[in-house]
Amino acid sequence: MAKVGIFFGSSSGVTRGAAELLAEEFKGSELIDMEEDFDGIEQFEDFDVLLIGSSTWGQGDPQRDWVDPLYELSNDQPDMSGKKVAFFGAGDQDKHGEHFVSALGKMHDLFTSLGASAYGFTSTQGYTYEFSLAEREGKLCGLGIDDVNQEDLTQERVSAWAVQLKTEMGL
Ligand SMILES: Cc1cc2nc3c(=O)[nH]c(=O)nc-3n(C[C@H](O)[C@H](O)[C@H](O)COP(=O)(O)O)c2cc1C
Repeated sequence: MAKVGIFFGSSSGVTRGAAELLAEEFKGSELIDMEEDFDGIEQFEDFDVLLIGSSTWGQGDPQRDWVDPLYELSNDQPDMSGKKVAFFGAGDQDKHGEHFVSALGKMHDLFTSLGASAYGFTSTQGYTYEFSLAEREGKLCGLGIDDVNQEDLTQERVSAWAVQLKTEMGL
C-alpha cells in the first residue's frame, strides 16, 4: 500500500484542521507538523505520496515552518521522481485577495521541478480573489481553504478533495 505523509505548517490552526481531516480520510497516513515533527528533508523519502499543507503569509509566502525545508530542497535538489504530491492550504481571499493561497503555487513549482508529479488541481469557482500564484490554466494547483470567509465550506471541500486524490492517484 502507498505510504501517505501529510506535512503541514499552520500558524493559527486552519491548515492543521484540514490536515487532520485528511488524516482521517487517508487511513494509515502519517501527520507531520513542520514545527514539531520535521527532522529534515530526508523525511520526504519515507513516503510515496506527499500531501503538502501550508497557509499563505506576507506577500504570498509559505507559512514560516516551511521556510528552511523549502530552502534545503531548492539547494540540495533531491530526486523526487516517482513521488505523487498534492498541495493544500489556508488563505484569505477577501483581505489577501492579491495573493490568495499563493504559497501553493510556489510549493508546486519547487516539488515538480524536483521530479514529483502533482495531483489534485481544483476549480476556482466559488472563490473570489484578484490574483493567485497557485492558479494554473484556470485552476488552482491544489486545494485552497478559507476559514476567514468560507469556514462552512471547508469540511466539504477537504472531503471532496480526498475523494478526488484517491481516484487520481489510484489509491
Ligand atoms: C500578515 C498576514 C498576511 C497574510 N497574507 C496572506 C496572503 O498573502 N495570501 C492569503 O491567501 N492569505 C494571507 N493571510 C491569511 C492567512 O493565510 C489566513 O489567516 C489563514 O487562515 C492562516 O492559516 P493557518 O492557521 O493554517 O496558518 C495573511 C494573514 C496575515 C495575518
